[in-house]
Amino acid sequence: MGDLMSEVLLGPSILTANLLRLGESIEMAVSAGVDFIHLDVMDGHFVPNITFGPLVVESVRSATNLPLDVHLMIDQPERYIQAFVDAGADMVTIHVEACPHLHAALTAIRERGASPGVALNPATPLESIVEVLPIVDQALIMSVNPGFGGQSFIPTSLRRIERLRELTRQLNPSCRVEVDGGIKASNIGQVVTAGAGMIVAGSAIFTDQLPVAEAVQQLRAAIAR
Ligand code: DX5
Ligand code: ZN
Repeated sequence: MGDLMSEVLLGPSILTANLLRLGESIEMAVSAGVDFIHLDVMDGHFVPNITFGPLVVESVRSATNLPLDVHLMIDQPERYIQAFVDAGADMVTIHVEACPHLHAALTAIRERGASPGVALNPATPLESIVEVLPIVDQALIMSVNPGFGGQSFIPTSLRRIERLRELTRQLNPSCRVEVDGGIKASNIGQVVTAGAGMIVAGSAIFTDQLPVAEAVQQLRAAIAR
């Protein structure tokens, strides 16, 4: 188990994929050997942008058996847990800033058969999730302000990852520290060293600059270094 936990999971966000050819983008990522698919759900309230809902998650479900990591950047996420689980989400991550009854919502995710995760915006104190760390499987540090792909990694996130890793060691060693936003081959090594066990990359994987397989390979190589 020690070895399993030390393995770093890498998954693409489909936010910057070609949505007209989403199936092909997912196939390319799957054959490049990613560990999960990250789906960014945005409601135009909690974040300025609007993306997609359960229907797209359901379509992605039909395209792959990889775990689907659904990142809900929406207000009142508890209203949509059932819909996303029914659509095929394996992991459902909700924001502490969007959900006053966080413990109840995370418990509901588990009861409905998915793996619960809690996410924090860059300005939210880590202390705000200490009480729920024992009941989650993922704790997600946003390393950009949520809403858009292709932003730059906020450097103070590294220290937050280290501190969160320390907290999960104490309170729930099997909880993975997930990091999302601005991950590139140039910073992924530091992010892993700081304690990340699950990493999302959007524009670094779905990019015009490189084929998907090469982009994934470069990220993996940078982790190994
Ligand atoms: C930001 C999303 C992220 C992001 C990842 O709101 O949650 O998943 O789009 O994309 P990159 O890696 O381009 O920052
Ligand atoms: Zn995300």
